[in-house]
Amino acid sequence: MKHVGAAWRQSSPTAESASTAEQSRNDAPLIELSNVSKYFGELRALGPIDLAIADASFVSIVGPSGCGKSTLLRLISGLDRPSEGRLQRYGADLDGPSRQVGIMFQDHVLLPWASLLENVMLPADVFPLPRAAALERARWLLELTGLKDFADHKPHMLSGGMKQRAAFCRALLPDPELLLLDEPFGALDALSREELSLELSRLWQDLARTAILITHDIEEAILLGDRLIVMSQRPGRILLDIGIDLPRPRDVDTAKRQRFLEIKQMARDLLFRRKQA
Ligand SMILES: Nc1ncnc2c1ncn2[C@@H]1O[C@H](COP(=O)(O)OP(=O)(O)OP(=O)(O)O)[C@@H](O)[C@H]1O
Ligand SMILES: [Mg+2]
Repeated sequence: MKHVGAAWRQSSPTAESASTAEQSRNDAPLIELSNVSKYFGELRALGPIDLAIADASFVSIVGPSGCGKSTLLRLISGLDRPSEGRLQRYGADLDGPSRQVGIMFQDHVLLPWASLLENVMLPADVFPLPRAAALERARWLLELTGLKDFADHKPHMLSGGMKQRAAFCRALLPDPELLLLDEPFGALDALSREELSLELSRLWQDLARTAILITHDIEEAILLGDRLIVMSQRPGRILLDIGIDLPRPRDVDTAKRQRFLEIKQMARDLLFRRKQA
């Protein structure tokens, strides 16, 4: 299938501080957090955290409920700002949301009255993107995710997994360099969850972008990621940060490998021990 990239990628009107960004692009990480904390009033929800994320990597993050995972993603997305510390993208301070960053939440939040295609096209109006090129890319993404024949269907006519696929297409429409996934498969049953996560993982490899996945499922985190981060109880800090040196493409049998089980045990020990403390 012909790859339909984003025609607007090169000629973006948001080529903001393009020159500064381009200059530091070669040496600075895509995202870098230095000593970042987030408070809500008196409550320290997160941090301090130091974290650098390289281009074209898939980073999985697990941690106890309420430890600040969604807060961390919101900071990285630019939707929210750190209370302390510094957050940079390619060496430049982050100054708000950008179409270079796509987000997919646990709840698919598709508009019920709009067709799948219209839902996938939403970012084209928000940013805005050139319509004809965006439409071509939307159709390509729907085809890639097996939704081509459902483009005119409303969300209520689709299964949970199909809705999540559509939400994935929508997040990818602007061709973001970074995709943030906050428990994207949380609402699905175990079987659809495994199937969809492996499928999206394969797609991801083809698209070769950078992703950060938040999940409470350790197996999913290891199966999908190049790197696993385990966070502590609130205020969330990094307890473990290791590379997942398992070959790709991965499938259900990957979860039977010795190395997979070792990493899983390491993560479980940390999460469980902290809970007991
Ligand atoms: N906008 C907000 N105002 C006040 N407190 C907040 C806000 N957002 C998050 N919090 C608090 O910050 C802490 C971290 O919340 P966050 O949603 O980041 O946790 P999480 O790790 O994503 O949890 P879960 O796994 O349950 O989704 C929680 O105690 C939460 O109540
Ligand atoms: Mg959350």
